[in-house]
Amino acid sequence: MDAMTLLQQRSSMGKLMAPAPNAEQLEAMYRAALRAPDHKELRPWRFIEFSGDGLDRLGELFAEAERVENPDAPEAVLEGARKKPRRAPMIIAVVARVTPDEPKVPRVEQVISAGCAAHGLLLAAHAQCLGAMWRTGKYAFDATVREGLGLAGQDELVGFLYLGQIGGRHRPVPEHDLDAFVERWS
Ligand SMILES: Cc1cc2nc3c(=O)[nH]c(=O)nc-3n(C[C@H](O)[C@H](O)[C@H](O)COP(=O)(O)O)c2cc1C
Repeated sequence: MDAMTLLQQRSSMGKLMAPAPNAEQLEAMYRAALRAPDHKELRPWRFIEFSGDGLDRLGELFAEAERVENPDAPEAVLEGARKKPRRAPMIIAVVARVTPDEPKVPRVEQVISAGCAAHGLLLAAHAQCLGAMWRTGKYAFDATVREGLGLAGQDELVGFLYLGQIGGRHRPVPEHDLDAFVERWS
């Protein structure tokens, strides 16, 4: 796949099957992620990779978040939370590890950089014919989940990237009218 086709045709895949990306594919993905633009080379990126039992540990953390929110949460709600990570054979949580009090690089820039790293992972997954879907949902912003994953005060959980083999059909890439998005001063 040539670069322009990749950039213009990447799309998400919600239906994901085993096996998880292999070591070689993951290395290529992380190398792409680490090419994210990075003001002052702060490297504000951390990746937490979940597979196998790790997915169940993440599910337990989601269930714990539900219990903290509502100690009387019904078992069905807890079970729903527990099962969420098993929608894919692998998840990579992308964290913006923010260097605080950096006058030239405010927090927002560091979070954007981590977002670019997440996009790099998605692009490199697509380029290798893997399926990928960026999800957040309420757990990405939940204090219990943040603590369980070791996020510090200013850090941001940019997203959970669900990864695996393509298990369905990609939606057609939408045709956008560029003029709706681009303002030209000339
Ligand atoms: C920061 C971020 C968080 C997202 N969270 C979710 C989510 O929790 N659930 C979901 O269905 N889609 C979520 N999406 C959107 C999908 O990842 C995807 O981009 C969207 O379905 C459009 O598909 P496409 O990427 O093929 O254009 C999120 C996207 C971003 C950038």
